[in-house]
Amino acid sequence: MGAVTVITSGKGGVGKSTVCAGLGRALAERGRRVLLIDGDAGLRCLDRMFALDDRILFDISDVVNGACEPIRAIYDCDVPGLYLLPAPFREEKTVQPSLMRQLVPILSRYYDHILIDCPAGIGLGFDSATVGATRALVVATPDPVCLRGSDKVRLLLMQKNIASQRLVVNRFHYQNFIKSSLYDDLDSVIDSAGIRLIGIVPEDPMLAACLTGGRTVPSNFSAAKAFHRLAARLEGEPVPLARLEKL
Ligand SMILES: Nc1ncnc2c1ncn2[C@@H]1O[C@H](COP(=O)(O)OP(=O)(O)OP(=O)(O)O)[C@@H](O)[C@H]1O
Ligand SMILES: [Mg+2]
Repeated sequence: MGAVTVITSGKGGVGKSTVCAGLGRALAERGRRVLLIDGDAGLRCLDRMFALDDRILFDISDVVNGACEPIRAIYDCDVPGLYLLPAPFREEKTVQPSLMRQLVPILSRYYDHILIDCPAGIGLGFDSATVGATRALVVATPDPVCLRGSDKVRLLLMQKNIASQRLVVNRFHYQNFIKSSLYDDLDSVIDSAGIRLIGIVPEDPMLAACLTGGRTVPSNFSAAKAFHRLAARLEGEPVPLARLEKL
């Protein structure tokens, strides 16, 4: 059985889908079989990030409704070993948590990792995306409002028995962090979220440009390196944090 990780956040728009795509790619480049499940019915975007949008015929709602075999709704991404199970186009087709609870363990037999991209908010989509997961990455930008939201989601995850939680600080920009003087250092950021840090992804304009254009982020770019460090840590390797000023 592979590891099932939900990528979630307190606030929307902080980079959950970006982290899901970048981390999935990095894990596949480490030689793992990785399934990305887009949990954002109505606002799906992983198919766009991998330039698969023209090819999608079936999605996860077709699988649970019995309209197709799972394999017909699972698409190869551009990296060997990386696959996508897309979300439906319409929000009302969000898969019920009871069905996700059955489906995810079955799928996890065939992959080393399943990453589930959680939608914004804490409604049905959140319940559906989290129910099959055994651990969570909580994505936050380093600002007080976002970090307060992370603390809230931490408690919700605990209620769902997902005690294994790690914080990913996304869109980190050293100069802006220093200038804002909102926090003294990264430790105070972590204290504010109440979740142990596993990785920092820098603000990287190349990342946004590549993902929205369905292109691979070149491996020498800072965000791609950050995703590789994150992938290694997720698999238990003791990779030290990069020096903040070098991010
Ligand atoms: N590290 C980064 N550097 C630069 N841009 C980023 C970074 N991370 C995310 N972005 C940009 O921020 C925007 C929001 O990212 P994304 O869609 O991944 O957020 P999300 O949390 O999944 O949003 P939602 O809550 O709507 O699902 C996108 O335009 C993305 O390209
Ligand atoms: Mg998203």
